[in-house]
Amino acid sequence: MPSMSRRTLFQAAAGVAGVAAVGSLSACTGSTRAFTLVGPGSPAVAAAERARRVPGRRVVSARLTPRPVTVDLGGRTLDTWAYGEQVPGPLLRARAGDLLRVTVDNQLPVATSVHWHGLALRNDMDGVPHLTQDPIPAGGSFDYAFTAPDPGTYFYHPHSGVQLDRGLYGVLVVDDPAEPGSYDDEWIVVLDDWVDGTGRTPDQVLAAFQKTSASSGDPGGSMGGMDHGSMGGSMGGMDHGSGMGGMGEGMQSPLLGGAGDVDYPYYLINGRTPSAPHTFTGRPGQRVRIRFVNAGSDTAFRVAVGGHRMTVSHCDGFPVMPVSTDALLIGMGERVDVTVTLADGVFPLVAEAEGKTGRALAVIRTSSGRPPTPDVAVPELGRRTLLGTDLAGAASVRLDRRGVDRRHELALGGSMMPYRWTVNGEAFPDATPLPVSAGERVRLRFVNQTMMFHPMHLHGHTFGLVDGGGRKDTVIVRPMQALEVDLDADNPGQWAVHCHNIYHAETGMMTTLSYRSGG
Ligand code: C2O
Ligand code: CU
Repeated sequence: MPSMSRRTLFQAAAGVAGVAAVGSLSACTGSTRAFTLVGPGSPAVAAAERARRVPGRRVVSARLTPRPVTVDLGGRTLDTWAYGEQVPGPLLRARAGDLLRVTVDNQLPVATSVHWHGLALRNDMDGVPHLTQDPIPAGGSFDYAFTAPDPGTYFYHPHSGVQLDRGLYGVLVVDDPAEPGSYDDEWIVVLDDWVDGTGRTPDQVLAAFQKTSASSGDPGGSMGGMDHGSMGGSMGGMDHGSGMGGMGEGMQSPLLGGAGDVDYPYYLINGRTPSAPHTFTGRPGQRVRIRFVNAGSDTAFRVAVGGHRMTVSHCDGFPVMPVSTDALLIGMGERVDVTVTLADGVFPLVAEAEGKTGRALAVIRTSSGRPPTPDVAVPELGRRTLLGTDLAGAASVRLDRRGVDRRHELALGGSMMPYRWTVNGEAFPDATPLPVSAGERVRLRFVNQTMMFHPMHLHGHTFGLVDGGGRKDTVIVRPMQALEVDLDADNPGQWAVHCHNIYHAETGMMTTLSYRSGG
């Protein structure tokens, strides 16, 4: 996400009394305002972390080394950046309450950061450059250390530029020591849209969006003058889905409206193309917990398992009222856990790029037989399809009833021409923070004023969907719709709120939930 030198916001935060120094960005001498920002280095952040300590916790140590690598995606070998020799990066696993210590050794040629997506962790470990820490320079390292308070399926990725759209992502599972675990086996299924190393990097994709919009005088946003060929012919979606810039024909989804800006050459499950899919081997009758993670940058996936129904148990880490479904639609940044009882045979697990052309494939095998072909028909994909917003929260995780102390509206806007996405008309970092005070019940109202869907993600908290929905940290807001969520302001600091379409976030669709004290 924002990668330019965006010191303004951070320095503004650091300049207010009460914000302790972070890295080299020391606090300036205090100004006297009616309130103080609760910065990442403030005592309130340390106190919140102390309150997460549980007796007998373990320390889980790991090292991540983001670096340029050559990876084999199955039939296609290419250069990218990753956290290891393979994509996804190493699986990190802890129990709720454990202390994670992760050293990030940056061997990339550029600065990076690591964000622990979905975790309600201490603010100074949240990994947002210029907001919660200094960027980790090329050749530098950073020690992350934080308590993982809640069980669930999470993932980690850079919060720097469009690095997420490289091979830089991995899964973090936080196990629940109290969970019965009524399943026999587990399968982690990571979904991704892939362009890096195919002739363009994600940075070039972004630059093409920005350049085309800057050089075009076409007010209708039709992109008539764009030379698709020079960009590998894979960016056919540039004129689609924008609210302000005319609606395109392609990349439309019946469930999501405008479905994306980038038409990717590959879609992957666990780093594999459909021509050499990842295979899960089990026995008939086994109950398998599948943990879906959408690590894509611009693609929602519609997933189904041929010949099976899925029982959804968790969304974004938190339990939901169990519900059975044929298919799921998972936005960027969302995670869904399901349980499947395996039938006898060989079955496709398909993730279709929603509103786009292409799919990812994996295979479940419980007996001998021919593997499915990449174009295998999966009728479940056309049946009942649930979104995260369709799931009801389990009673144990519903927010208690109380009055709302503070409301914020986030109007989601933007255009393809110029390529710029906004919250309340402003593009981060030139965005007005949304103030909150510790202890408040806060209602956020997302109002999508565009013709594209936006998966909106809040750091450091989960929210409850107003109207009985589940606890989530990333929620799809459909075109021209409003959606309200409630949260308890119980984790002090400065927290990013943004669209998890990485190209939208990077060009401005981001703001901050900003804890203040006093005043
Ligand atoms: Cu996974 Cu700020 O994001
Ligand atoms: Cu968006």
